[in-house]
Amino acid sequence: MKSNQLHFIITAGGTREYIDPVRFISNASSGKMGEALARAAVKAGHKVTFITTVGNSKLKTVEVETADQMFKAVKKYFSKCDCLIMAAAVADYTPVKKSKTKIKKLNRDLVIRLRPTVDILEWAGKNKKKGQIVVGFALEDKDLRKNAEKKLKDKNLDMVIVNSPAAIGAESSQVQIKTVNVSWIKMPTAGKTAIAARVIHLAENLVLKLGLKNIAFRQQPGQMAK
Ligand code: CTP
Repeated sequence: MKSNQLHFIITAGGTREYIDPVRFISNASSGKMGEALARAAVKAGHKVTFITTVGNSKLKTVEVETADQMFKAVKKYFSKCDCLIMAAAVADYTPVKKSKTKIKKLNRDLVIRLRPTVDILEWAGKNKKKGQIVVGFALEDKDLRKNAEKKLKDKNLDMVIVNSPAAIGAESSQVQIKTVNVSWIKMPTAGKTAIAARVIHLAENLVLKLGLKNIAFRQQPGQMAK
């Protein structure tokens, strides 16, 4: 790796939690934010391990479907990365049992029991070593800053990006970003490419601040509103 190159792990897309071989529980995530982040990191010259539930012909990917598979993939690469960005919409719950055969229609209610999945971000926050940065997303419909700051603290993150459900599937979004010991940045509504460039740049600066890498990055992209 070049001296000013970092290794990013970026996750994207909603996970699929299977009920039977053809049915699953998922969410509306398009994977666009994660893809924009992976592109921005590649464009900035970094090494990117892109773990995604959404196929992508333009980027080298590690394809996964379930929360469990995503966790395994993150664990595989985590020790070697400088920065993990969890942009994926990982399901919080998965069926306790996956039927091996297609569930038949019956003339009564069907109850599906769910168990919590591993919180990958929390695991990474607990297991990060000196010099590693962990970045999470928060999707909140109220008390955005308060809820996101709680996640930043509880999951031992270095940065949290908060947005509202309107961001799902959209081309543009309004995000607010908080890094540890720095006040909130409120970005104007912007395309996901511009948001991604800003996030990658902030992550570079965080790694720089840790002082463990001898790196000099390019100039900061366009001024953003506070
Ligand atoms: N996340 C994760 N593993 C999970 C669930 C979520 O790594 N099993 C990560 C997401 O990738 C995201 C962050 O946690 O970066 C926040 O997800 P969110 O669903 O907003 O928050 P939760 O912590 O799951 O809490 P809640 O849904 O109650 O707000």
